[in-house]
Order: sequence, then structure tokens, then C-alpha cells
Amino acid sequence: MVSVTAVHGDITEQRVDVIVNAANREMRGGGGVDGAIHRAGGPAILDDCIARFPHGLRTGDAGWTTAGALPARWVVHTVGPNHVAGERDRSLLESCYRRALAVADELGAQSIAFPLISAGVYGWPLDDAIDAAIETIGRTPTRGEEVRLVAFSADTHRRVQAQVLRAFPPETAHASIGGLFDPAPEQWGLRGDPYLWRALRSQFATTPLPPDSRELDRVIRDAAQAVIGAALSASDDAHYVPEFDPGHGMSAGAVSREWWNTTGIRTLIDRFEARDG
Ligand code: APR
Repeated sequence: MVSVTAVHGDITEQRVDVIVNAANREMRGGGGVDGAIHRAGGPAILDDCIARFPHGLRTGDAGWTTAGALPARWVVHTVGPNHVAGERDRSLLESCYRRALAVADELGAQSIAFPLISAGVYGWPLDDAIDAAIETIGRTPTRGEEVRLVAFSADTHRRVQAQVLRAFPPETAHASIGGLFDPAPEQWGLRGDPYLWRALRSQFATTPLPPDSRELDRVIRDAAQAVIGAALSASDDAHYVPEFDPGHGMSAGAVSREWWNTTGIRTLIDRFEARDG
């Protein structure tokens, strides 16, 4: 089962078998990720681009070259649609992820790092660029074991992280705090509550249970405050968390303090206390 994670960092520093490049059709380098990969990987990558792609690469397609001096074995270049230039066919963006995974499989790659294709210079709306990546990775069979979605800025990483946790919840260890979060409640307070629930479940997926429910309460409240950037004990009910808002409006992204204090944390404590012993 492939593990999919959100990483905050520079794609050229990822120690994986395949680093995916957000290239252009000419395949002769450029700015953004393309520029960073050619700079860090050295001229061997450009030489291979020229040799292997004399006529460039079509939008939506993918092809591999050497990784040169990068901490990877190959670079898989793919060309996303240029939203700024009016290329709005989302199936081409989805094709980038599908084809890149297929090429990585042909290479026998076990780990692959993607940037957010088309989300930079090519101007694809960020939330939809994230959704297209996650949806396509989620439905494309791969023999790889690890897929990383690498976000360059902290804000983008928080958004990617929220969506990755929604689409690919990690396994929780036996007798972990995270295990108390399954199953998720039937009812939520506001639309940001499930995002916070999943974020905490993932954070505690391997954290052993504390000695008592008072400590459990403290640990969860502290973690919730760190995730949403505000205390659950504050007086006003709704707290808006931008990265919990997939861009659909209607109170999306808001966390309900009242729900967490009367239901969310109570549920976790009850499950903790109901455990045998
Ligand atoms: N590591 C990870 N992500 C990065 C890095 C990096 N070193 N540099 C930029 N990014 C992010 C951007 O913030 C954006 O979210 O990668 C995403 C893709 O941005 P671009 O590199 O601009 O790629 P794209 O939008 O697909 O545009 C491709 O830009 O760089 C040129 O030659 C390239 O013409 C092509 C076009």
C-alpha cells in the first residue's frame, strides 16, 4: 500500500528514487522547480533532456532523464497545462501525475516526490492544483511504496497536509492516542471540525496512550491549539482555519470550540476510559 505524505521543503533535497520536474514543452530548463532541478542537478540533466527529448514533451506527458547531482536516481519531467496562457483542461494536469507515476513504475522507482504541477508560473488555482494531485495519485495504481507531495511554502504545505490527511489517513498503532479517533463522530459542529479531527488523529497515530484521562485531555487540547493557532478554551465559538477551507465557502474551515468541548474531546475521553484496564 503506497504511503502518501505532504512534505514542506525543497524538492531538490528529497532523497527519493524519482524527483518530478514541472517542466515546459521545450524541455530545456526554466524557472521555479525546473530551474531549481537543473541548477542542483547540473548540466547532465540538460544534456539528457536534449538527447532524449529532441522535440520536447507534450503537455500532460512525462519522460525521465538522469538526476545528475540530485539525491535521486532519476528526474521524471512532466509538462503541466499553462493556466495563465488559457490552458484550462484539467485532464491534462491529472495526466501529468498519472504519466509520471507510470514512468516511475517503468523505472522500478520505490519512492517519488512531486511538486504541485502548474501551481506556480503556470498559475493553476492552488486548491484545485492540490485536489488534482491528490485525486489522481489516489486513483492511479503504482508499484511505488512512497509518494511525497512537496510544498515549497509553509502555507501551501498546511493546505496540502490537510487534504492529504483527508484522502490518505495513516494507520494508527495499537493502543495509540490516534486509535481513539476511530471511528470518526457522526455529527460535527462546523465544517472545519473533521479537518482538525484528522490532523490530530494523524499526529497521534503512533503516540502511546497517557496514564490517565486528565493527561489525555491536556495533550489533545495542547495539540489542537498548535494546529488551529488558538485555544479551545477561548470564549468565541467558531475559529476560522484557512487551510481547513477547501475553497467552497459556507463556514468551511471554521472549527467549533463548543463542539470540541462538549462532544469531540468528551468522545475521546469516554473511549479512553471505556478501554479495558
Ligand atoms: N521545491 C518544491 N516546490 C517548488 C520549488 C522547489 N524548489 N520551487 C517552486 N516550487 C513550487 C511552486 O511554489 C509551485 O507551487 O512548485 C510549484 C510549481 O511551480 P513552477 O515551478 O512555477 O511550475 P509550473 O507552475 O508548473 O510552471 C512551469 O515554470 O519554471 C518554469 O520551466 C518551467 O515553464 C515552466 C513553468
